Amino acid sequence: MGSVDGKVAFITGVARGQGRSHAIRLAREGANIIGIDICADIAANGYPMASRAELDETVELVERAGGKIVASVADVRVFDEVQSAVDAGVQQFGRLDIVLSNAGIAPLAFRQLTIEEELAQWRAVTAVNLDGAYHTAWATIPHLLAGNRGGSIVFTSSTAGIKGFGGLQGGGLGYAASKTGIVGLMRALANVLAPMSIRVNTVHPTAVNTMMANNPDMIDFLEKNPGAGPHMQNPMPVAQLEPEDISAAIAYLVSDEAKYVTGVTFPVDAGFCNKV
Ligand SMILES: NC(=O)c1ccc[n+]([C@@H]2O[C@H](COP(=O)([O-])OP(=O)(O)OC[C@H]3O[C@@H](n4cnc5c(N)ncnc54)[C@H](O)[C@@H]3O)[C@@H](O)[C@H]2O)c1
Repeated sequence: MGSVDGKVAFITGVARGQGRSHAIRLAREGANIIGIDICADIAANGYPMASRAELDETVELVERAGGKIVASVADVRVFDEVQSAVDAGVQQFGRLDIVLSNAGIAPLAFRQLTIEEELAQWRAVTAVNLDGAYHTAWATIPHLLAGNRGGSIVFTSSTAGIKGFGGLQGGGLGYAASKTGIVGLMRALANVLAPMSIRVNTVHPTAVNTMMANNPDMIDFLEKNPGAGPHMQNPMPVAQLEPEDISAAIAYLVSDEAKYVTGVTFPVDAGFCNKV
């Protein structure tokens, strides 16, 4: 018996990295999955987004873990695309219980940017990370309310949503601003949805072993700035967590074990946010 048997989870950014890991973990715990991914690159972001082949691989892995999945290509920046995907999935599975707003980007470019590039980075990162989180909430909350069984929403923020770092470029500043903005969205929703037993929380991972933390721009930055990259410096002896480490926290937060946990900023950060 899994911790979320018979429940249905909607997950954004499901084609690779943490989103894929969450889908596999929740499938193992008995959930069916509705998943979306953009499967196309974003111009202002220097590293590639997931591919259609990776989305197909997620489908295979979820099914191998014992779950059913409805996966489609949709961009969290476009509300109608998110809503259509959620509606189609709920139509298929008949309910919605869990929402993981996980899709995100972190545009970095360690060279002098033109003002157009600066603005493009800021706009891209806030559109995906913050507008996308709001779109995900807004497309899913009506289904959680209609089910009248409570529910759980988890937004993936970052240590950058708690501590003040992000460098001096549109991408890094927009990342910090969007990940902090998610906390405000979470807190307001947690209060307004508590009477309906819909819990809302954020997770704050330190660096995780995915494309976002290990792309050529990030590696270039770390090589040129030895000792930089404060997100890499955890008090505990680990440079990067694995996606499964974040999935473990998610599995707890969406389970009945956490039935009175709401409005919480939950670090999974090897002590990063607490360090002096
Ligand atoms: N990797 C880290 O070090 C780290 C640390 C803290 C927080 N996070 C956060 O974790 C979340 C997951 O990132 P990850 O580490 O798995 O990185 P990742 O780049 O491997 O995965 C992100 C996924 O989101 C998808 N995506 C991006 N833009 C999208 C859009 N507009 N619409 C739909 N899908 C979109 C990508 O295609 C990709 O599959 C992000 O919100 C990220 O900000 C990551």
